[in-house]
Amino acid sequence: MTTKTKKVRKAVLPVAGLGTRFLPATKAIPKEMLTVVDKPLIQYAVEECIASGIEHVIFVTGRHKNAIEDHFDLSPELESFLEQRGKADLARLVHDIGRGVQFSYTRQSEALGLGHAVLCAADLVGDEPFAVLLGDVIMEGAVPATRELVEIYEATGSGAIHVERVPRERVHLYGIVDAKPEKESRWGEKVLRITNLVEKPSAEKAPSNLGVTGRYVLPPEIFGYLAKTKPGTGGEIQLTDGLCRLAEDNKLLACIYDGKTHDAGDKLGFLQATVDFGLKDPKLGKAFRAYLQGLKL
Ligand code: G1P
Repeated sequence: MTTKTKKVRKAVLPVAGLGTRFLPATKAIPKEMLTVVDKPLIQYAVEECIASGIEHVIFVTGRHKNAIEDHFDLSPELESFLEQRGKADLARLVHDIGRGVQFSYTRQSEALGLGHAVLCAADLVGDEPFAVLLGDVIMEGAVPATRELVEIYEATGSGAIHVERVPRERVHLYGIVDAKPEKESRWGEKVLRITNLVEKPSAEKAPSNLGVTGRYVLPPEIFGYLAKTKPGTGGEIQLTDGLCRLAEDNKLLACIYDGKTHDAGDKLGFLQATVDFGLKDPKLGKAFRAYLQGLKL
């Protein structure tokens, strides 16, 4: 850690979205509670936080999202019911969900964009660096994705975000960065200095094919920039536009992610994640693989 940087203790998880891409499933259930095998999507992100040393998870939530709060709260009735039935292992499984971190909730009452959602957490974060995790993206790698960014932030004092190469026909779905090699970086070619970002550009206007994956570690200065950010792409206050100001200050790095990104916010990506995690499941994997191999495709 440089003498100036503070430890990254907090993470902001924006979960106020309506999840319209998954209707009718999301009519009464938050998108974040859709399950990949047997865990709600949002639990994967919270587990990544815990594995990354985060101590305090701040959900930016909205109406009809109570299931998320309940999921990360204790459930003494369910636990004692399971224990009385001799299912101590399940009782422990339920008990351990989200243990070890503090949770706070604040609301984004209007759907004004991702940048606005992050800004809603400003008071809870305060004057310290923080992570942002988009819960519909599951990042799977040897090192927890957020931890990798925390290490870059704590060593350099610059914000750090994960990027990955995306096919040209998909650049319009991502924030795309313009970046140059970082001189004398201990991470070699994996870490680049961002000079500009564009939210969801056309293939013709994209400055590169490096797409923002949905993991960020940012200094608190971003809040001042977001407060001044006007609606941009899609009429929304974009986090990407606030990040451009950090890049102008020469304070934003891109880390090329070398794990696997599952974009479960998209129906096809969600199905693919279900297959990938199903195949890896210690109890189901073997039978599931045999089932898939038997399909006459
Ligand atoms: C958001 C961000 C975008 C990023 C993407 C990753 O877009 O605005 O910059 O590349 O997440 O999933 P969304 O997918 O929420 O429209």
